[in-house]
Amino acid sequence: MLIDGHGREVNYLRISVTERCNFRCQYCMPEKPFSWVPKENLLSFEELFLFVKVAIDGGVTKIRLTGGEPLLREDLDTFIKMINEYKEGLDLALTTNAFLLADAAQRLKDAGLKRLNISLDSLKADVAAKIAGKDVLSKVFEGIDKALEVGLKVKINMVPLKGINDDEILDIMAYCEARDMKVRFIEYMENAHADQALKGMHGREILAKVKEKYTIKALGREGASPSFNYRIEETGYEFGLIDPHKHDFCENCNRIRLTAEGNLIPCLYFDEAMSIAESVKKGDIQGAADVLAQVLKDKPKENRWSEEELEDREISKRAFYETGG
Ligand code: GTP
Ligand code: 5AD
Ligand code: SF4
Repeated sequence: MLIDGHGREVNYLRISVTERCNFRCQYCMPEKPFSWVPKENLLSFEELFLFVKVAIDGGVTKIRLTGGEPLLREDLDTFIKMINEYKEGLDLALTTNAFLLADAAQRLKDAGLKRLNISLDSLKADVAAKIAGKDVLSKVFEGIDKALEVGLKVKINMVPLKGINDDEILDIMAYCEARDMKVRFIEYMENAHADQALKGMHGREILAKVKEKYTIKALGREGASPSFNYRIEETGYEFGLIDPHKHDFCENCNRIRLTAEGNLIPCLYFDEAMSIAESVKKGDIQGAADVLAQVLKDKPKENRWSEEELEDREISKRAFYETGG
């Protein structure tokens, strides 16, 4: 079992397989970054897999592949197969913008992927294009339909933004309910790479929109998930709210993040990280395990997106496209 410096069990590894992305979401990467990490700095799947084995042997039971956009990395299904074959019964998932998903869904499913989380911020083509920086919606819809068709379980992530898509909360919920997908509304997390003019919605404002039409019952956090769940009393539909500005958000944090370059990151908010690159390039299992132990020991207690500090706290400098959100 992996235990961090605050006594929390860490069993969830998020791996960002590339920082590159085919979207330019305003809340993540509005412009192309000044420079991408050079391709030669990327760890190969074999190198990443060495660390995956260390993590699984230590007690990780849930692995999520993220990006950037993970489907931009060639042969992702081979990597999924490697992980899946190493240990049965893993919760093996992917977070994607779904643009390339229609072609990939069957291969991902065959490789052993269990489920997908897909970003969907609008049901209107022009609004989706405004947020993502290009016309994406028809391909995203195709990707979602195909994933459901091949039998992957799908959740939808929506980031409500004031004056942009805040009028679509109930419509996205209805779209998800009709397809038996859970939606999670995510509070916009301020970061230095986003369009600084953006205004996110606080969790209570998101819930107020839902309450204009429905009565909701709070169900609580789903284990160590960042999502706090609610049920619509009129329909029985359950949705989630990811609310990192809330104080209890980090209490049960169970995750660490690995970037495509090999930086092991204990918390999405803070810039601190330690590299496993040197160890995995040498095939040094003990070296990778030692870095993991140190990162767990140093894992911060909580993020600083909390309400009271909202006005004057420093904005996180780390890009979400590097960490995978
Ligand atoms: P499930 O396994 O389905 O619960 O997925 P997940 O919510 O862990 O993964 P996903 O990639 O869909 O993440 C959804 C949102 O939650 C993203 O915006 C993440 O940035 C955010 N999130 C996940 N973990 C953390 C965390 O530790 N801290 C913060 N601040 N946000 C997080
Ligand atoms: N605030 C909140 N959510 C974000 N995501 C990316 N950037 C941000 C941000 N600044 C979300 C995406 C995706 C998930 C991995 O992270 O919508 O669904
Ligand atoms: Fe790409 Fe996801 Fe960032 Fe959008 S949020 S630019 S889809 S990595």
